[in-house]
Amino acid sequence: MIGVIDFGSQYTQLIARRFREMGVYSEIFPPTVKFSELKSKDVEGIVLSGGPNSVYDFDLNFDMNIFSGEVPVLGICFGFQLMAQILGGKVEKGEKGEFGLTKIRIVKSSLLFKGLAEEENVWMSHHDVVKELPSSFEVLAYSENNYIAAAQSQIKPLFAVQFHPEVTHTENGKKVLENFAFEICKAKKNWDLGKFVEEKIKEIKERVGTDKVLLAVSGGVDSSTLAVLLKEAVGDKLTAIFVDHGLLRKGEKEEVSNALRSLGVNLVVVDAEDRFLNRLNGVTDPEEKRKIIGHEFIEVFLEEAKKRGPFKYLAQGTLYPDVIESAASSTGMAAKIKTHHNVGGLPEDLKFELIEPFRYLFKDEVRRIAQILNIPDFIIKRQPFPGPGLAVRILGEVTKDKLEILRMADYILQEELQKWSEYEKIWQSFAVLLPIRTVGVKGDFRSYEYVIALRIVESEDGMTANFVEVPYDILGKVSRRITNEVKGINRVVYDLTDKPPATIEWE
Ligand code: XMP
Repeated sequence: MIGVIDFGSQYTQLIARRFREMGVYSEIFPPTVKFSELKSKDVEGIVLSGGPNSVYDFDLNFDMNIFSGEVPVLGICFGFQLMAQILGGKVEKGEKGEFGLTKIRIVKSSLLFKGLAEEENVWMSHHDVVKELPSSFEVLAYSENNYIAAAQSQIKPLFAVQFHPEVTHTENGKKVLENFAFEICKAKKNWDLGKFVEEKIKEIKERVGTDKVLLAVSGGVDSSTLAVLLKEAVGDKLTAIFVDHGLLRKGEKEEVSNALRSLGVNLVVVDAEDRFLNRLNGVTDPEEKRKIIGHEFIEVFLEEAKKRGPFKYLAQGTLYPDVIESAASSTGMAAKIKTHHNVGGLPEDLKFELIEPFRYLFKDEVRRIAQILNIPDFIIKRQPFPGPGLAVRILGEVTKDKLEILRMADYILQEELQKWSEYEKIWQSFAVLLPIRTVGVKGDFRSYEYVIALRIVESEDGMTANFVEVPYDILGKVSRRITNEVKGINRVVYDLTDKPPATIEWE
């Protein structure tokens, strides 16, 4: 495994993912990690990430033993500066910053740059520069501004680059990381998700024994994959509960439950539409709606669990980015902290033991596991869908009639969009029902009906997003079909806002 020490760069997770993509397991550690802990995990190499801080005004409790040379180290950006500073070099603010695409000149051959040309296009993002290297170091490359772009120790396996090999803009970045992993660290290619699945199934089976496991499924890829993995491990000792809060899209409950049942999951579908709609009656405030839904969800889920228990274990689809982010926010190194808004957390005093087999996995790895477990494509490729469902896409009060209108409009949008050759680039696409009515003319009569807004965005992770330039003929067809086929709608508008300043959902 390759250990990545996280100094708060927005690309830290990308570094770990790159190594995993090449078949080498990689984990992320806080900046205070001790060398002894890394060794106890058998790390074959250590990477120091970038970060938003400056080394000269930052007091780090960093373990110097990491530079002993016993395990190869690669410093990236801030990681390079930290290595230089600690080992006796000098870091200063450069006269110029270097941001975006830059050329570097490689002036010395090194295992790190094996197979690279003399000039390479790399991606940089820094203001501080290493002005003087530690005495035992030599320069490997310079940037266009003649700053040191890469260096290595002449006596120990310590390497450093000022650019970011983990981002795709660095043309041969992958090659640099491969050189580090295989040429320098001699890492073994043994990270294999098929093997991971087999091992997890065995491990969960042994751990659970004759006890029972409880799981909430939403129909999303994480909980569905978890349901199937658990079923493989413990069979019917798993009870998966799918709460239908009445805020799902057209056909969603049937599609998801049929798919999971046909894969052998012991699935309980709780029909709680009336309960949720009663509680939402007359409520218009977005936060209030979310709170009610979150609270009600937990009540329904726990009531159902009580009827079918006792359960010793609760399984959750927690992913590695959540684990890393909560760790990063506790060390205060990361500049950005994500707001989690899942349907309410379960109360902490519950006496379940947790099973979280995806705690060390990235989302794309869960998708690959879903494929290994034969989960149908429509679940694997599913767009993110908010826990509070259509309630946050009906602005103002949620009623049965409005849900019906929105479901139909959304269905038409999906049907038409799926015919688009560039459908794959869409991160999320949905209809929003606005609480205003406008005047129109249908047949020979004046109409006074609701407005549907279409929201179609592309995004990497939902943190930022851009509206998609969907061709007008598709948008026009969607609009005509909605106004013709959905009773109660006489106007359709397209949302041309990015995030920020807007959010993806309208509430
Ligand atoms: P926003 O609207 O904040 O959404 O730009 C970012 C991403 O999160 C999803 N989203 C939610 N997911 N519970 C969820 O599980 C929620 O309450 C919730 N609100 C927004 C949204 O669909 C988008 O993918």
